[in-house]
Amino acid sequence: MVVLVTGGASGIGLATARAFAREGARVVVAGRSRESLDLAVAAVREEGGEAMALPCDVRSEEQVERLVSQTVSAYGRLDIAFNNAGVSLVGSLSEFSAAEWDEVVSTNLTGTFLLMRAEINHMRENGGGVIVNNASNAAHMTLPLLAAYSASKAAVLSLTRAAAREFIVQDIRINAISPGPVDTPMWAHRPDETPEDRRERMAAASPSGRVGTPEEVADMVLWLASPAAAYIAGHDLVVDGAMSS
Ligand SMILES: NC(=O)c1ccc[n+]([C@@H]2O[C@H](COP(=O)([O-])OP(=O)(O)OC[C@H]3O[C@@H](n4cnc5c(N)ncnc54)[C@H](OP(=O)(O)O)[C@@H]3O)[C@@H](O)[C@H]2O)c1
Repeated sequence: MVVLVTGGASGIGLATARAFAREGARVVVAGRSRESLDLAVAAVREEGGEAMALPCDVRSEEQVERLVSQTVSAYGRLDIAFNNAGVSLVGSLSEFSAAEWDEVVSTNLTGTFLLMRAEINHMRENGGGVIVNNASNAAHMTLPLLAAYSASKAAVLSLTRAAAREFIVQDIRINAISPGPVDTPMWAHRPDETPEDRRERMAAASPSGRVGTPEEVADMVLWLASPAAAYIAGHDLVVDGAMSS
């Protein structure tokens, strides 16, 4: 089993790469920082699986095409892709710059499109595969100061459904996952609050009284990718303790 995880050097991506490695997968971990990729590969190998780091900025068409072709050259195939790389920029829409909008949309939405296209073109030649796109419960509910992020993630869901319908005939199963608040390095980038304050605020806003863990999301990605989910395509699995209900 060969698995590609983008944004695999930290947070939900790293937890998912480790979980696949525990299942004996060969895992390609992709991201922009060579240093954090090398650390992530060491952590994934500790789980007993085989792993390799491939630097890639998912906003670049050329780098994404190279990522998938290098994965196939190194491991012979690509069975499962977790398109997880994403950014969240916080700000009022009235003050949001076009550059900030572009960064969010080009990473979260265009990046997912570029990855899916390259992955699908390999998988259809190879007899099938599984793709899971990481969206967010922000696609389902209003969260303050996250308009661009929410819009990009809602579009990821739409893209997921359209692609699922088109490629199920070629045995490519495509689904999305929508986590609620999960304590990851993404929170450290917020200028408006500390990760501790955010954890407290998000726990209070959630009916479950807590935030999620990267491992809880990873387990659901593995389930969506497993034969147990063989008849599930075009679905969005919300993992948010009923927060968006
Ligand atoms: N944490 C939450 O509360 C939450 C909730 C719902 C959904 N999500 C989604 O979960 C996914 C993972 O986020 P996380 O929470 O685990 O945060 P994270 O640890 O910050 O992970 C995001 C990853 O994406 C990578 N990345 C960002 N821009 C990239 C680019 N242009 N090209 C390649 N890689 C890029 C980052 O690595 P480099 O910067 O090194 O490239 C990083 O490893 C995201 O799509 C996020 O929207 C998170």
